[in-house]
Amino acid sequence: MSAPKQQTKSASRIERDLLGDFIHVAEEASIASARTMGQGNAEASDQAAVQAMRHAFEAVEMAGTIVIGEGERDEAPMLYIGEQVGATPPPGVEFPRVSIAVDPLEGTNLCATGTANSIVVLAASEPGGLLHAPDCYMQKIIAGPACRDALDIDAPVKYNLKAIAHCLDRQVKDLVVMVLDRPRHQELISQIRTAGARIRLIPDGDLSAGIAAAVRGAGVDAVFGTGGAPEGVLTAAALRCLSGEMVARLVVNTPELEARIERMGIRDGKRIYTARDLAPGEQIVFVASGVTEGALLHGVRFFGDGCRTHTLAMTYSSREVRFVDTVHMFKEPGRLGVRLY
Ligand code: FBP
Repeated sequence: MSAPKQQTKSASRIERDLLGDFIHVAEEASIASARTMGQGNAEASDQAAVQAMRHAFEAVEMAGTIVIGEGERDEAPMLYIGEQVGATPPPGVEFPRVSIAVDPLEGTNLCATGTANSIVVLAASEPGGLLHAPDCYMQKIIAGPACRDALDIDAPVKYNLKAIAHCLDRQVKDLVVMVLDRPRHQELISQIRTAGARIRLIPDGDLSAGIAAAVRGAGVDAVFGTGGAPEGVLTAAALRCLSGEMVARLVVNTPELEARIERMGIRDGKRIYTARDLAPGEQIVFVASGVTEGALLHGVRFFGDGCRTHTLAMTYSSREVRFVDTVHMFKEPGRLGVRLY
């Protein structure tokens, strides 16, 4: 008896074959979490996104492994690091192996309070294409494509601001820098002020801020400060697609963290990473779907018999940036038909 024929989709088809599925996964999670908007329960908002995302992954024809997720297996029942996700292949068929990084709800408090800019995020690549980063802090400077090789994480803030201004052909006083509003950023904020740049303090969400910094016209020129390392890897995946600039370093400040990063195979805790180091894949899909209304993406709008979602979907090797505007019908449209507003 001959062995069943193996049908293997090559990794080079991740962007082409799976983009639509990933958009659907992000849309499902955004709809589920948007239902909880303003309920004041950040955990419930996150859970809604996680469950919807996990469920939607079950239909995707891939052998997916979560590399950035909700935490270690003992901390998270779903979308934990190392979890296998994707549809079960029929006998004799192999689905492509894909590394998946998710932030099912970036800005859980933003969603719980109905504040702008909470989004659902996922990135995918061939195995090894996304750094398996620990859940610790990461120091980051992010700017747009014009600032190629101009950022230096060890240089004074004013040096980086001058460099960014020079690359953008404007003065430091014209720059807008986004910074997470945290007590740990007091000194950073005062240095940016002294240098003369303008600041937008944000309550949460340095991932969407990082994406905005790489998009012309989004009203932000750079992001400075310390935020989550998992968010840093997801930002890097977006920046690879947008040719944005990033320099980053893990904040490894306890013996426990040192031991943890060693177990994860990271030898140098002080290493300076670029976007390419954090997301080295050659096949990268990045998808973000708006939950609450935001500068880059609309939030989910419900209208009785359906809703409308807004999603940013990008691929690295095929260099495509899509804004996907989807009307989801929960039942047959009423006599007035599909609404476009
Ligand atoms: P959550 O969605 O997990 O609440 O994270 C939001 C966020 O603001 C991230 O954008 C950022 O990287 C991180 O939290 C900063 O962490 P902290 O709130 O501890 O300063």
